[in-house]
Amino acid sequence: MRFINLMKSRFFHSPFRLIHDVTYRCNCKCKICERWKKSLDYKNELTTEEIFEMLNNAKKAGIIMYAAQGGEPLLRKDLPQLLQYAKKLNFVTTVITNGFYLKERFYEILPFIDYLFVSIDSNDELHDEMRGLKGLREKAIEGIRLCKNSKTKITINSVISNLNLDKVEGLVELSEELEIPIIFQPMGVYKGYNENLKPTQPELKKTFSKIIELKKAGYKISNSYYYLQYIVRNKSYACHAPKCFTYVKPNGNIESCCFIIDKVWGNVKEKKFKEIFESKEFKEFYKKMENCNKCSVYAVIETSLAYSLHPRYLFENIFTSNFFKA
Ligand SMILES: C[S@@+](CC[C@H](N)C(=O)[O-])C[C@H]1O[C@@H](n2cnc3c(N)ncnc32)[C@H](O)[C@@H]1O
Ligand code: SF4
Ligand code: SF4
Repeated sequence: MRFINLMKSRFFHSPFRLIHDVTYRCNCKCKICERWKKSLDYKNELTTEEIFEMLNNAKKAGIIMYAAQGGEPLLRKDLPQLLQYAKKLNFVTTVITNGFYLKERFYEILPFIDYLFVSIDSNDELHDEMRGLKGLREKAIEGIRLCKNSKTKITINSVISNLNLDKVEGLVELSEELEIPIIFQPMGVYKGYNENLKPTQPELKKTFSKIIELKKAGYKISNSYYYLQYIVRNKSYACHAPKCFTYVKPNGNIESCCFIIDKVWGNVKEKKFKEIFESKEFKEFYKKMENCNKCSVYAVIETSLAYSLHPRYLFENIFTSNFFKA
């Protein structure tokens, strides 16, 4: 699926994945993330109908994947309807959640989710401490267990800051125990927020080298070796993410990149994706961004490597069949 989508993006230069912050409301106060501080903006959130319309437009613009995140997406009461609508339009759907409300809501949303990512940053009490919510880790794990016997593919998403550098072994043990894969990525810095939590390059090198060893030992770590080595060596890459992904904020603003760059193309209430993707300004922007290299987000780097048909990356992923996953 990812291969076909990437090739479409490559030839038509048009994003195939819509990443939607359905809300900025959040029940956590994570040290690495400042979105919970924007919770008060909730009055400007798109309505259910406006999101349906956005999905119709996304479909017309050639987008085929819909990822709901936030804030905490499970705080949106209409999440099942949004996902059901996306499935009706044949989108491949993803949800990224902190997992606190999975136990209560899994049965409503699971039938409409292809890929579910649950964020767990440490398999002990540090997780709740880092996220400012008591009982979160236990509830997330309980939620994962309830979701497991379904067609939805579940993955643990772990972000490495300098708070959890020594927690990767515990995390891979958890993935082993739950029999689901895990993804690691280094923390990015949101415009200076908690910059002091960003690991140094030597710290990242040590931790990601450990992750490589654990992957070699057979743990279900979904990152490619190539990505892990990129982090270890702090190498540069050509970023193709703006050609592949488009981001919509809770108020409907359309952005191009991950959380680091503020580039607003308009609002879904008045602008069509197709109009943006076909504009000269968009094409100039994505060309310029090839040299950006500002983030080390898993999806950004792995997609960029695949997009550029990097021979070593293709070789590794074709043989591990990662490349054909969404
Ligand atoms: C912004 S959250 C939204 C979804 C949900 N609230 C959650 O925590 O899973 C999406 C993902 O971004 C990760 N994240 C948060 N802050 C980050 C940062 N500074 N750098 C990289 N990833 C981050 C979270 O751990 C989570 O896996
Ligand atoms: S990482 Fe997720 S759970 Fe934590 S504050 Fe950000 S949006 Fe909320
Ligand atoms: S590296 Fe730069 S262009 Fe690429 S997704 Fe990150 S901020 Fe955007």
